[in-house]
Amino acid sequence: MASLRIRIYGDPCLREVAEPVDEIDDEIKELAADMIEIMYENSGIGLAAPQVGIGKRLFVADTQEQEGPNPMVFINPSIRNQSGTSTMEEGCLSIPDVREDVKRAESFDLEALDLEGNVVRFRADGLLGRVILHEVDHFEGKLFVDYLSPVKKIMVKDQLRALEKESLAASS
Ligand code: NI
Repeated sequence: MASLRIRIYGDPCLREVAEPVDEIDDEIKELAADMIEIMYENSGIGLAAPQVGIGKRLFVADTQEQEGPNPMVFINPSIRNQSGTSTMEEGCLSIPDVREDVKRAESFDLEALDLEGNVVRFRADGLLGRVILHEVDHFEGKLFVDYLSPVKKIMVKDQLRALEKESLAASS
């Protein structure tokens, strides 16, 4: 999987619904390791498998709130009991140079598997909660720019169009 690259807005793989991971085998472990590397190389705080063209429900994250690298892997995550709302500025490695405020739930119950297949459960909020909601959206083919108001959408339209062109050029 040495040829993984970040897919840019306009790439159809960003709009597809991802499949659950059915077995955490060597291929999945290698995918996670490669994605962590790509995330750090690009100074991201989260990266979902569909963003590198792999339609699986796996994402990696490091909110960089602690000192030193602290990469986390989440497999087949599910979100329940969302409550409250919070507005935070978001960006996405697949949509370079676009950053906008997005309103999402403030907290929720997360359940997922880690890379060892252990069930991980916690109440998520803050920056990590935000990253999780953003990454889980990628599994449904949803991007943060989908949430923008009509006026904001018009404001970023040219940027998105330019990215679409770049994306098309990269895939041909
Ligand atoms: Ni993203």
